[in-house]
Amino acid sequence: MPNILDYLNNNLTTGFIGRKLHYLAVTSSTQDVAKELADHGAPEGAAVIAGMQQSGRGRLGRSWLSPEGGLATSIILRPATPVLPLLPAISALAVFRTIKTLGIKAEIKWPNDILIVGRKVCGILIEHGLTDGAVRYSIMGIGININFDTSRYPDIAGFATSLSVELGHEISVGQVALRLYTELEGLYLRSKEPDAILTEWAANMITIGSRVKVRSANRDIEGMAEAINKSGHLLLRQDDGSVLEILAGDVSLITDSRKK
Ligand code: BTN
Repeated sequence: MPNILDYLNNNLTTGFIGRKLHYLAVTSSTQDVAKELADHGAPEGAAVIAGMQQSGRGRLGRSWLSPEGGLATSIILRPATPVLPLLPAISALAVFRTIKTLGIKAEIKWPNDILIVGRKVCGILIEHGLTDGAVRYSIMGIGININFDTSRYPDIAGFATSLSVELGHEISVGQVALRLYTELEGLYLRSKEPDAILTEWAANMITIGSRVKVRSANRDIEGMAEAINKSGHLLLRQDDGSVLEILAGDVSLITDSRKK
């Protein structure tokens, strides 16, 4: 059994997240493996971990590079309908808090990219299994760059970083996964307090207070990112003063709220 499985099975104290673990040294995408498991009745909290992914998926049709040394995990959730809009906040905060325990200050870029000093260290993809239009399960896919040198991968070198690059040394992927699952479970169980979750999410979001460009439905919209509403949508004040509610999209910062 690989070390990470031994480590997690021996040390996890969660009630359900990560209690059933599936490890694959190499796979196409942990999202696909988790969907297959969920379709066959895997319990809530079951998680897939891959040593490497050959066709990792990102948001908005992008790919996700998953070399050895990263954490690629997909967690099966069966959320009640009111919890669905909270999943981006819950996932981003779980990673944000995990990275904080390493002594690193991370930032959230709406909805759930995690950056360190402007460079992406983690991406999150949430996909849903539907029956007759109703969500039967959600797959929360989290990719964290941990122990590899992002400058050696030309596709991501210009905008990505990893935890080992930031710390100057490698760390245990198992320890990161343990903390991540623990934070995730705590936040998920608190989903009856959406305001607390949305407030912590927004408070650590570099997007708020920045001038941004949002690519949404194939058009670019510029404006000031003002706030997050109760549905987790981004409120963008356009130059004509109107406020646009952005449900999904890719945000790039034009001015940076940190530099004020
Ligand atoms: C993004 O930033 O666009 C989201 C990236 C999500 C990557 C993770 S890695 C684990 C899971 N498996 C995948 O194929 N994608 C997600």
